[in-house]
Amino acid sequence: MATPRRRPLIMGNWKMNLGPAEAEKLVDELLAILPPEPQADIAVAPTFIAIGPVCRRLAATRAILPGAQNMHWEDHGALTGEIAPPMLAEAGVRLVILGHSERRAIFGETDDMVGRKVAAAYRHKLIPVLCVGEQETERDTGATLEVVGRQVRAGLEAGGPPSDGDLVLAYEPVWAIGTGRTPTTPEIQEVHRFIRDEVAAIAGQATADATRILYGGSMNPKNSAGILALPDVDGGLVGGAALDPAGFLTIILSATA
Ligand code: PGA
Repeated sequence: MATPRRRPLIMGNWKMNLGPAEAEKLVDELLAILPPEPQADIAVAPTFIAIGPVCRRLAATRAILPGAQNMHWEDHGALTGEIAPPMLAEAGVRLVILGHSERRAIFGETDDMVGRKVAAAYRHKLIPVLCVGEQETERDTGATLEVVGRQVRAGLEAGGPPSDGDLVLAYEPVWAIGTGRTPTTPEIQEVHRFIRDEVAAIAGQATADATRILYGGSMNPKNSAGILALPDVDGGLVGGAALDPAGFLTIILSATA
């Protein structure tokens, strides 16, 4: 069977960097250098406080899709400090990163919470970017696929993608995030293929074939071409390297090469 073609997605995760003015500036810099018809979808996830200005800046163009880094699963309520899915949708957000390892490790997010968030994203027509990935000790002890499989199943348990819904997963080995280290390309391909098979078991082969599985963890302009050329890698979730417009552009162009 021919390998289905999936449009690559390159998403910048700006983490807790760039206030509203700096975020708008980076968006302007990106808009100025992006090719008129990039062969990849491009998205950025600013901090919550910068989402309004960034969405307004991007309202007139489809060149960059606005994203968010997190959200709660409830629509509203007494949840001090949280942001609800309909608020993101109202602002113009299209994609939302869910279950990032920093949320899981530092803020105690569980598989169950991440699953509720994925289901809430679909209720509000937001595209979930479900993050999964093993800790270093889990890789060392050969538990990578077991951990990643559990996270994928838990993330999709409360409601897999509806027939008109888009699904994006991001494989981010925790030990590769912000460290300059990455797995080898065969190791990345092995996990991505495994994730696609898990999605097929949960949601069917057609959904699995259409699902974009991003790699994240120290992706940079030097290593992106090799990683993005892998058959089951459909884009990147880029942290540190996404803060530099020229470097981010190089990564985008390497996805389309
Ligand atoms: P990094 O972060 O590219 O800085 O390693 C990626 C991520 O955490 O999404």
